Amino acid sequence: MLKEQIEKLAVAINQDVVSNRRHLHAHPELSFKEYETSAFIKRKLDEMEIPWQPVADTGILAIIHGDKPSDQVIALRADMDALAITEANNVEYASLLKGVMHACGHDVHTASLLGTARILQSIKSEFGGIVKLIFQPAEEKLPGGASVMIKEGVLENPKPHAVIGQHVMPSIATGKIGIRKGKHMASMDELYVTVHGKGGHGAQPHQNIDPVLIAAHIIIALQQVVSRMANPHMPTVLSFGKLIANGTNNVIPDQVYLEGTFRTLDEDWRTEAHSRIKKMAETIAESMGGRCEFKIVKGYPFLVNEEKLTEQVYSYARHYLGNENVQDLEIWMAAEDFAYYSQVADSCFYLLGTGNKARGITAAVHTPVFDIDENALTVSTGLMAYIAVKRLGN
Ligand code: NI
Repeated sequence: MLKEQIEKLAVAINQDVVSNRRHLHAHPELSFKEYETSAFIKRKLDEMEIPWQPVADTGILAIIHGDKPSDQVIALRADMDALAITEANNVEYASLLKGVMHACGHDVHTASLLGTARILQSIKSEFGGIVKLIFQPAEEKLPGGASVMIKEGVLENPKPHAVIGQHVMPSIATGKIGIRKGKHMASMDELYVTVHGKGGHGAQPHQNIDPVLIAAHIIIALQQVVSRMANPHMPTVLSFGKLIANGTNNVIPDQVYLEGTFRTLDEDWRTEAHSRIKKMAETIAESMGGRCEFKIVKGYPFLVNEEKLTEQVYSYARHYLGNENVQDLEIWMAAEDFAYYSQVADSCFYLLGTGNKARGITAAVHTPVFDIDENALTVSTGLMAYIAVKRLGN
């Protein structure tokens, strides 16, 4: 009954959700600068007569009270920020701002949460409990909008019994979602390394201290952290994507600069790995006559989907979409600042299928040609509304 009602509403409001998504897509804003996006959301909330308050500058916390008696509280979260990418899609709703693009689907998440809000607001009399709508800035930029929103109290007064989030996923077909119980996404730390040597003529290596060779040894040796020190049961990734040794064919430079990323899913191991990585790199540089400055900038923690809540979300999703449309996910070594909610409250984060191979909608997120199958927007709005009212005990 409730299911059919929500399904119908999700279809009825679809045009509006699509047009909101297109508006947001055309007007992307970078992390912590989502001013127009924030104003747009506030206008839409006002139109729906949903009370809201600003949080963390551009963030918003809105609240819907179900009319029936219940002490249950659930929080639904959408991120709002775009990326520094120039859109290459030739669509009518393409980004109007060169160099900024919603290439991670956060326009979809925001438009969807507005849609879910509209559904919930229109069936207020049918459910009890409190729904907190979290429109969160800056998922893409450290320290992460989630950590700021939490610090500013979005999970207090009242505390939610569950926090739910979703993310677009082009590798999952539209109409389906993917979920994983337990640890799901990795912690992410940024590595910044400067190897100091002594530059000079390439023909006289004995008079120099070669930072290029030192850097090469460091890169290779650090793979032991993954292959020899990490517990084989604990996924661990260490990758370097930047290596600048700006000499020439016969000039050894004074220094080499490296940037990398470290990812895992265990806080104790994360801390231990940091100290091992640093020590190993510094010792290697020193033993080769050079010096290494190793800076680790801590990013997001790992994301864990609380078992009991996720089991519930699983069954609600199967009921809403059909068993065949809810798939299991493997651990994913990407990071997501929803992890902050998952560290302090029972949380569940699932992936929304937005791909469509037949229509050529397959591009990965964070690429200039990323787009979604907008048919996913009836799933994204309706399913989250259904999860909310079911979880609130209706
Ligand atoms: Ni994202």
